[in-house]
Amino acid sequence: MTQKLYVKTFGCQMNVYDSNRMIQALMVHGFSQTDDPEKADIILLNTCHIREKASEKLFSEIGRLAKQKKKSALIVVAGCVVQAEGREILRRSHLIDIAVGPQNYHQLPELIAKYNREKGRLIVADFPTESKFDSLPMPKTSSANAFLAIQEGCDNFCSYCVVPYTRGCEYSRPSSEILVEAKALVKAGAKEIMLLGQNVNCWHGDEGKDLGDLIRDVAKIKGLKRIRYTTSYPSKITQNLINTHADTPKLMPYIHLPIQAGSDKTLRAMNRQYTVAEYEEIVAAFRSVRPDIAISSDFIVGFPGETEEDFEQTLALVERVKYASSYSFKFSARPGTPASLMKNQIPEEVKTRRLIKLQKLLQSQQRTFNEATVGKVLDVLLTERGKVKGQLVGYTPYMQGTVVRAPLKMLGEIVSVKIISASATALTGEII
Ligand code: SAH
Ligand code: SF4
Ligand code: F3S
Repeated sequence: MTQKLYVKTFGCQMNVYDSNRMIQALMVHGFSQTDDPEKADIILLNTCHIREKASEKLFSEIGRLAKQKKKSALIVVAGCVVQAEGREILRRSHLIDIAVGPQNYHQLPELIAKYNREKGRLIVADFPTESKFDSLPMPKTSSANAFLAIQEGCDNFCSYCVVPYTRGCEYSRPSSEILVEAKALVKAGAKEIMLLGQNVNCWHGDEGKDLGDLIRDVAKIKGLKRIRYTTSYPSKITQNLINTHADTPKLMPYIHLPIQAGSDKTLRAMNRQYTVAEYEEIVAAFRSVRPDIAISSDFIVGFPGETEEDFEQTLALVERVKYASSYSFKFSARPGTPASLMKNQIPEEVKTRRLIKLQKLLQSQQRTFNEATVGKVLDVLLTERGKVKGQLVGYTPYMQGTVVRAPLKMLGEIVSVKIISASATALTGEII
C-alpha cells in the first residue's frame, strides 16, 4: 500500500514551490497525496515566519491536526519557522517528529527513513554547501500555471524582515538548470511559468546575463505561452528587464514592485535602498514601454517612528501611482531584526486605523483598474475550478482573477473571454 502524504503550505509562492518539490521527491519514494489529514501517514506543514500571525498559525495548526491524525502518522515541519527557531521548535511543540529547514528539504525522504529506523526526533536546518536543487527529481506533473525558483535568499537586510535569516544569502541558479526545469514543466503541462526569487531581479547568470536575458531564453521554449516573475526589488530593476516587457510577447504585462512606504524618512529607517522619487521613475519607465502594465505593491503601515505625515505621504504616493492590486500589512516586530528594537513603536490601534484607510484606497484603485476591462476581450488561462459547479477560474494577462462558465475539460486552456462585470477582487466573463 502506498504511504499517504498530507501537505499544508503557509507563506509566499516560494513556499508553494518548495512544497511541490518536496511532494515530487516523496512521490519517487512511493508516497501519494491526500487532502484528508485523517488518512495521512505523513503530515507536512511548510511554514512562514514573516509576521507574528503567520508564525503562530503553525502551533495552533499542529494542535488541531494532532487530534485528527492516525496514531502512527508523523508530523513534519518545514520552512522558514524551522530555520528561524532551530532546535527551539522541537521544545515548543512535542508533537513535531521531524523539522527541516528551507535549504535541507531535499533530505526529507532520507530523514523519514531514518526516523522510521531510529524513532528519534530529527531536525536539520543549516546552509549546506551543495545546492538542494542538484538532488531533487525533475517535475513529472504540473499545474497549467507553474512556479520555478531561479533565485533564493536576500542580502538586503531591510530592518523589519526575517528573510535574510531564514533563506540565507542571495543565490542564483545557473540558467542551464533553470531551462531544463522549465522544459520539464512545459512537458508536464505548464502553460505559464512564474519565475520566483526573494529578489528575482537580482538573478544573474554567466557572461553578465540578467533576468531580462533569462526571460528571453525561457520564452523560446515551445508550448510555453506565458512568463511572469516575482518579487522585484525596485532599485535593482535594469533597463534590459524593462525592455523585455516591450520585446517579449510571452512576458505578461504585470509587475509586482513593493515600495513598502511613501515617505523617504520611513524608507531610510527600513533600510530600503531607494527614494520615493526613484521608485516613481522606475514605474514611469515600465509604463513608457508598456502603457497598460499592471503594477502592484506591498505596503507596511505603522513602522516604528511613522508619523501621521509619513503615512499621508504613503496615501499620496498610492494616489499618484494608481495600483492594479496590492498587499498591505501592519508592521510586525520580528525577533532578531533591528526594527523590533527601535524605540518609537506605533500603538496597535494606530496601525489598525492606518491599515483600514490604506486598504480602502487600494481597493478602490483595484476596482477602478478592474472596471476598465469591462467590455474588453482578454486571454484567460483557466487554472482552477470555481466555487459553483460549471464554473472555472483563470487569470488575465494583468493577473485579474476571472470567473467563466466552462466545462472542466477546459482546465489548463487559454481562452478569449469577453469581460462582463468587475468587482474589486474579480472579473466575470463569457468565453467567445
Ligand atoms: N523580497 C520582497 C518581499 C518579501 S516579504 C521585497 O523586498 O519586496 C513580503 C512582504 O511582507 C514584504 O514586501 C513586506 O511588505 C511584508 N513584510 C515583511 N516583513 C514584515 C514585517 N516584519 N511586518 C509586516 N510586514 C512585513
Ligand atoms: Fe525582506 Fe527586504 Fe529582502 Fe525583501 S528585500 S526579502 S523585504 S530583507
Ligand atoms: Fe514566509 Fe519564508 Fe516566504 S518567511 S514569506 S515563507 S520566504
